[in-house]
Amino acid sequence: MKHWRIDEVPWERFDRSKVDAGTVPLVKAAAMVERNGTDYAIYLGRVFHDDPDFRQAADNWSLEEVQHGEALGKWAMLADPGWDFRAAFDRYRAGFHIPIDADASIRGSRTGELIARCMVETGTSSYYTALAEATTEPVLQQICRLIAADEFRHFKLFYDHMRRYLGREHIGMVRRLRIAAGRITESEDDELAFAYHCGNEPTEQAYDHGRCIGAYMAGAMSVYRFRHIERGMGMVFKAVGLPPRGRLSGVSARLAWRLLQHRRRRLAGPEAAAAA
Ligand SMILES: [Fe+2]
Ligand SMILES: [Fe+2]
Repeated sequence: MKHWRIDEVPWERFDRSKVDAGTVPLVKAAAMVERNGTDYAIYLGRVFHDDPDFRQAADNWSLEEVQHGEALGKWAMLADPGWDFRAAFDRYRAGFHIPIDADASIRGSRTGELIARCMVETGTSSYYTALAEATTEPVLQQICRLIAADEFRHFKLFYDHMRRYLGREHIGMVRRLRIAAGRITESEDDELAFAYHCGNEPTEQAYDHGRCIGAYMAGAMSVYRFRHIERGMGMVFKAVGLPPRGRLSGVSARLAWRLLQHRRRRLAGPEAAAAA
């Protein structure tokens, strides 16, 4: 059961005058990564082959992720009527693959797999919350709120299953932290960067990871406020088994915020970095 349907979004309220040109490329890239959720369900189905409850939950989860992609793609086509979501997504599918033929988690354990999934949902939940608050375009605002609520439920879903596996697999804190940190840094890998390329660059232009992740991150980082990072850090801490609202979480959130600001200034170019 999905929690909302695309036709419940008030598409008629779309207001072109409130579309921020800098947001459109970000939405196009996100639409493709989300739309690609089906492959992750296949992969999770293999990793958790003897766990029918989780498999059922993962199948349902992927339907929601695909719907996120469809809603964002539809919005991007309203914002940029010349953009062809299907064509861009086909291009993405042709060039980017996740390892769906794995028969065990690439994280080394099922607990690890679920911690990695928690990190992804922490990122998306924070990002769509921030994007909903950053945009004034009413339809995008509404889509981002609906998606952010789904992502938070996804976090809880993977978290609950992770706790169940942790009771059997006994993965230590250091290992859990390492998996969490590893998955967070992977956000700079090809998945988003290549989606940015396929969504926004002409077919004749060759893919360049550095250029694309830089362009994507510069835009994405500009929507965050400290409160989003603080809340996200609480979720990271909860997922690895540390107090989500303790002193260490607060210190880590402030450090992450400073790193994000630093990275954003660097991506904005030498002039912005010098002015800061
Ligand atoms: Fe999503
Ligand atoms: Fe999600």
